[in-house]
Amino acid sequence: MTRRSRSAMKLRVRSPDPRGAIGVVGLGYVGLATAVAFAHYGRSVVGFDVLPDRREAIARGEAPFFEPGFQATLTRVVRSGKLSVVDSARAALERSELLFLAVPTPSTDEGEVDLSFVRSACEELGRAVRSIPGWRGIVVKSTVVPRSTEKVVEPTLRSASGRSSARSLGVAVNPEFLSEGTLVADALRPTRIIVGTSDARTLRCLRAAYRGFPAPLLNLTPAGAELVKYTANALLATKVSFANEIARLAERTGVDIDGVMAAVGLDPRLGQGFLRAGPGFGGSCFTKDLKALLACAAELGLRLEIPRSVLAVNESQPAHVADLAELALGSLSGQTVALLGLAFKEETSDVRDSRAYPLLRELLRRNARVILHDPNAGPAFLAGLPRELRKLQGGDYRLETRLLAALSDSDLAIIHTGWSEYARLPSREWQRLRQRVVVDTRRILRPDALARLGVEYVGVGRPLPESRAPRA
Ligand SMILES: NC(=O)c1ccc[n+]([C@@H]2O[C@H](COP(=O)([O-])OP(=O)(O)OC[C@H]3O[C@@H](n4cnc5c(N)ncnc54)[C@H](O)[C@@H]3O)[C@@H](O)[C@H]2O)c1
Repeated sequence: MTRRSRSAMKLRVRSPDPRGAIGVVGLGYVGLATAVAFAHYGRSVVGFDVLPDRREAIARGEAPFFEPGFQATLTRVVRSGKLSVVDSARAALERSELLFLAVPTPSTDEGEVDLSFVRSACEELGRAVRSIPGWRGIVVKSTVVPRSTEKVVEPTLRSASGRSSARSLGVAVNPEFLSEGTLVADALRPTRIIVGTSDARTLRCLRAAYRGFPAPLLNLTPAGAELVKYTANALLATKVSFANEIARLAERTGVDIDGVMAAVGLDPRLGQGFLRAGPGFGGSCFTKDLKALLACAAELGLRLEIPRSVLAVNESQPAHVADLAELALGSLSGQTVALLGLAFKEETSDVRDSRAYPLLRELLRRNARVILHDPNAGPAFLAGLPRELRKLQGGDYRLETRLLAALSDSDLAIIHTGWSEYARLPSREWQRLRQRVVVDTRRILRPDALARLGVEYVGVGRPLPESRAPRA
């Protein structure tokens, strides 16, 4: 036998059972994308979510959220039988050797990472594994601060399961880097697969699970993998806040921010990505992850100045957008504003931490009336209203499903989300606005075309009209 065939045989013996399914617990954006990606690459996947409606929808091949291209991919893998849904975490664990945990890790009121979903899922999985024979590997996909796996996940799993050694129960971290809006591409073709485990069998299973994915797999320590996720998100958020601060300078110096950032981003050390000024970052991750990073550092006696400033700039951006509107109209008091786009960004119906919430608050604080519009996310936005804004419901703002009616009933419009529906609207339709002013936080409209029609254009990061620029 040659050395090569001997090592191939060794590999075959040691490789996990290829017929075993991969389990996923928590079928939200990340869990379902993970499940679909594994199924796409030919693995059998069993998923479980606590929400019965969500399980039933997925079992029928129906996407539980709006995401470009996702419905077709989900339907395909469900029809092929590669992805199936079970009705308990235990059933998922029975059928899978390797199980990914993708439950929420929201912020506590103090900004710390709330591990209660992770903890209770681990207790349930640990109890279940007691009566399931054979080795199992549990992989944390949720975003958790450094040392959570070591200090919370692993001890919880070991005490609930009674399995004290990696020989019967392996544990790993495998953070997720996908972005909503490009979820399918990101899940199927990730830039890198980051794993954190000190256990050889779990690592082998992870390598087998990810076979065929066109990305390098890097193994770090669990805390190292956890820190990669926070570092990546903090750096992306830093680019956004940095672009927003420079945009304020661009507005006052008669410069277009996009030209500046395109030129800056040509330097490969800096890159184009995320150097985009706008209404500030939103979504389920950046703010909560930055806060969790700060809280984690504070617990260790460290004060991280950069993430703190990044959050502060982001917090101030909705007021800056309202200031731009006020510069154009003099005062917002008594004016009706069409707030266009409620999702935290285009191509998603996710409204979690959307900057449209603080922007709405800012407009109402300035005594404006607000007409809300979004092609997808209107009902989700109202359902997610913070309590202090909900009290005002039916008073100073309302949802309008018809874009043109929203414009006709308003004095000015603020584009918060860069939906193509707004970008493609014929320029003349903006003339419907009573005061003919548009504040474009995403720079999706053409100022020259609007100017020809007598519509005043104010853009985040676009030169302020001379007459509007505030005096220093
Ligand atoms: N959304 C993103 O863009 C993104 C990107 C990278 C990482 N993450 C991280 O991934 C994790 C999940 O985020 P998400 O956006 O997918 O959240 P989500 O709210 O969309 O999905 C979480 C799902 O878990 C289910 N769930 C909760 N407890 C459960 C339990 N005990 N058993 C089974 N199911 C349970 C919920 O019903 C929900 O469907 C978080 O830690 C988040 O920070 C999110």
